[in-house]
Amino acid sequence: MHALRPVPTGLHASAPLSALPEPTGADLASVFARVGPELAAAEEALGSLLHSTVPAVPAIARYLADAGGKRLRPLLTALGARAAGHPGDLRRLMCVGELLHLGSLLHDDVVDDAAERRGRPSAQKVYGNPAVILTGDFCLARAVLLAAEEGGFRAVTELGRTVTAMAEGEVLQLLNAGNLDLDLETYLEVVDKKSAALIAWCAAAGAWAQGEDAMGDALQRFGREVGVAFQVTDDVLDYVGEKRMTGKRRGQDLAERKLTLPLVLAMQRVPELRQRLQKGPPSPERIPALIAEVRASGACDDALDFARHRVHDGIQALDALPDGPHRDGLLTLAWHLVDRVA
Ligand code: IPE
Ligand code: IPE
Ligand code: MG
Ligand code: MG
Repeated sequence: MHALRPVPTGLHASAPLSALPEPTGADLASVFARVGPELAAAEEALGSLLHSTVPAVPAIARYLADAGGKRLRPLLTALGARAAGHPGDLRRLMCVGELLHLGSLLHDDVVDDAAERRGRPSAQKVYGNPAVILTGDFCLARAVLLAAEEGGFRAVTELGRTVTAMAEGEVLQLLNAGNLDLDLETYLEVVDKKSAALIAWCAAAGAWAQGEDAMGDALQRFGREVGVAFQVTDDVLDYVGEKRMTGKRRGQDLAERKLTLPLVLAMQRVPELRQRLQKGPPSPERIPALIAEVRASGACDDALDFARHRVHDGIQALDALPDGPHRDGLLTLAWHLVDRVA
């Protein structure tokens, strides 16, 4: 697993944002279209993979799976595999990341006591914690089994590391809930482990499945950087996004005093904000004014700048892959994951 770069001297020591290359301008629809048939086939396969002789298991898993979601992980798996020259049927390999994602969302919503997910009441509000936790386990285990069948030894070993990192990231975040002194390095460790590790696995899996380890490792590096950028952007969306973009109400993280990059930066700039939050979780009526304060501090813009730098760094790793439409698709997708805020 590649180590996080330290960030003590400011958010980004590399080039100023104005020096970064522009996104390609290609639209996301064209990226989806490039692997459209694969995505449709994977969607069908996902339904079968959630089958169980215990009917409650697919009922709960499908409650979440059928509620929508961007299917970013299957998309990345397909683009990464094709960019590395994988010629075969990808539908089942593409489901690995989504299955693991489903399991982690079921667990995460229990941990966070989340009210909503993908625009619906979250699964545990409907089915209760015990059944949802166990269905999450089912999804994780099915993902690992499928990775062994479809991806081989390297892919399944890396998936084991990924599941481990995700659990660690979630626990580290949980232990720091309400810790207003959380430092940037710990925040980035949480983000890297809970979100970026799986995104990186998805990008690399098809290359590893073919024994193309050098390309797989490059795709993993790409995914790690882009995955951090993706989660940072998700954290910014809690302050600036609409429910249609996130499937959740704005201000959830703030209500829980969840230390994400926008809040860490805002508290550095507005020390009174920190003092006020230290008194306890804010009441729902105070959330809009606090959101406005965080935004006015410039913290959201700077968090997005940071995310763009991570995308820029990640894209360098794609040099290890041959030119082609799928490599271009990875590039377009990577920029879109940050620019979706605009
Ligand atoms: C949500 O992931 C959880 C994070 C890691 C930020 P997505 O934003 O990919 O969620 P869906 O799959 O589209 O619902
Ligand atoms: C996302 O974590 C879930 C995982 C990466 C496992 P968060 O708690 O930060 O994300 P949301 O806000 O619930 O989607
Ligand atoms: Mg959550
Ligand atoms: Mg969480």
